[in-house]
Amino acid sequence: MRTQVLEATPEALTRAAEVIRAGGLVAFPTETVYGLGANALSAAAVAKIFEAKERPRGNPLIVHVADATALDEVAVRVTDRAREVVAIFWPGPLTLVLERAAPVPLITTGGLDTVAVRAPAHPVAQALIRAAGRPLAAPSANRSGRPSPTRAPHVVEDLGGRIELILDGGSTSVGLESTVLDMTTEPPTLLRPGGVTLEQLEAHLGRVRLATGDDEAAGRSPGLRFRHYAPRAKVVLIEAGAGEEAVVSWLDGGKSVALMVQRSVGLDRPGLRVRLMPVDLEAYGRDLFEALRELDATGVEAIFVEGIAEVGLGRAIMDRLRRAAS
Ligand code: TXA
Ligand code: MG
Repeated sequence: MRTQVLEATPEALTRAAEVIRAGGLVAFPTETVYGLGANALSAAAVAKIFEAKERPRGNPLIVHVADATALDEVAVRVTDRAREVVAIFWPGPLTLVLERAAPVPLITTGGLDTVAVRAPAHPVAQALIRAAGRPLAAPSANRSGRPSPTRAPHVVEDLGGRIELILDGGSTSVGLESTVLDMTTEPPTLLRPGGVTLEQLEAHLGRVRLATGDDEAAGRSPGLRFRHYAPRAKVVLIEAGAGEEAVVSWLDGGKSVALMVQRSVGLDRPGLRVRLMPVDLEAYGRDLFEALRELDATGVEAIFVEGIAEVGLGRAIMDRLRRAAS
């Protein structure tokens, strides 16, 4: 299949909506990362997503809607509390897990009776959902297990030749995937930290529970089971300040390594590539996946990353780094 890459003009959006309505796949920008979209209500269309990404069938997809008015098409028994959260954070990087409505096929939800729903804020995502006139199932538009794409060329790298169309809307602004919050439990459970922080959620909801191994075992958090963000190079998470000490034995052994740090490093050796990451967490989140992709492409054998404090967006960043390193 030839993959078309089009700048997200009104004409391209019309074309993209046609592809979706015909049961095809379109990658599109959201404010978090690029998504790989298909008609969420068509089992045949959604099956193509799993094929193109080589995604395990048990890992459910997020259903993207334009706004809260579409909630009742895809979810049932939506509580007032869930509606309040939606009123505050949508459109934006927050996904809610709710009870699945019958029109959503089980393949979309990985066989679960719950459904993950979010309204993305990106104007291209908004325009595509409205033009298609259907909710869009859309996982991140990477090959399963690779870092999420934050620019159209990343999608070409992973899915070129496998999907009909990529809408190019430039770089994504958040760079980390949405926060996934299960509203079917009391208190609500944070299944994946992301663009909306735990602190922001707790300010409105009171206590929010963090997902544990038990949630995973009970099948409530399928995302925790699967391998994520794994570059070809070995990723090693180390403590802040420990970078020089960690890389030196690798360099002495003649290996090439990368070091991702938020500070200048007083070590200059052949074989060492230093990637300076922003101190500002929003900027760090925006750059993270691209940095992993770029360093990996240089062919280094290992990428050492200094850990950061788990406050605010730091929680989502550390979650992604831990998964990349596991
Ligand atoms: O920011 C994002 O969320 C991006 C953009 C494209 O919207 N999408 C994204 O999708 O990151 P994906 O498929 O890469 O991650 C979806 C996560 C997975 O961890 C999945 O297991 C979880 O959401 N999820 C989906 N449906 C669920 C459900 N019913 N119950 C629990 N977790 C669910
Ligand atoms: Mg993903």
